[in-house]
Amino acid sequence: MPLEDTDDDQVTFSTNELRAMRDEMQRFLLEYRFGMQEIETKVAILRDEFLYMHDYNPIEHVSSRVKSPDSLVDKVVRKGIDADFASIREAITDIAGVRITCSFTTDAYRLFDLLTAQDDVTVVAVKDYIAEPKSNGYKSLHAIVEVPVFLSSGRVAVPVEVQFRTIAMDFWASLEHKIYYKYDRQVPGELLSSLKDAADTAAELDERMQRLHRELHGPAGHGRMVAI
Ligand code: GTP
Ligand code: MG
Repeated sequence: MPLEDTDDDQVTFSTNELRAMRDEMQRFLLEYRFGMQEIETKVAILRDEFLYMHDYNPIEHVSSRVKSPDSLVDKVVRKGIDADFASIREAITDIAGVRITCSFTTDAYRLFDLLTAQDDVTVVAVKDYIAEPKSNGYKSLHAIVEVPVFLSSGRVAVPVEVQFRTIAMDFWASLEHKIYYKYDRQVPGELLSSLKDAADTAAELDERMQRLHRELHGPAGHGRMVAI
């Protein structure tokens, strides 16, 4: 209980209350870290198996993060979500995120298929911005999946946002992200259309690289992968 409650924005907590809140937040985020680690392990196993079986690595790099308490609070405020853990758990599904950057579009879809086919992975939602890019040109395949995490208190299903993209899509998205925040979400029209142009060029490069790759390895994208 707060010691003093003068108005909505002015609440004073004791040191012990502040520590308890910090601990509760850390405990809340920990589950998401474990969920993220489960997905990272699954992806690493798929990559290593591919390498072993086919002498081919479909993954360029993988990056992961758990949302910082700061950006979680920002999102809760921005989306008008009730500030309790149950509501946050329900409404925010990208607290844990794993981004898988592949060489080719076909590899992005293949990884998606292999990961989501695993029987302990539940697909909650899919947004295919590769098939249907956003109007600014953004492309990536997004999936919210749930993975079981086994804690001392039992099993919990943890949602993880997994993004699959190519190097070209990733290059574009990281530049667009910087521009978006540099202009505080109000990017000038001219720059927006240059970005859209760049996205088209990136998509064209992906197609050309994929074609070359196919010429090297056959219509399946990588001849020896058909067996999987
Ligand atoms: P958020 O509330 O921002 O998480 O978006 P959402 O719930 O509508 O989900 P969506 O699948 O559209 O986007 C989730 C994530 O994809 C974002 O957090 C970014 O990492 C990435 N993303 C989506 N749109 C863009 C974009 O236009 N540019 C860039 N650079 N990244 C994007
Ligand atoms: Mg997000």
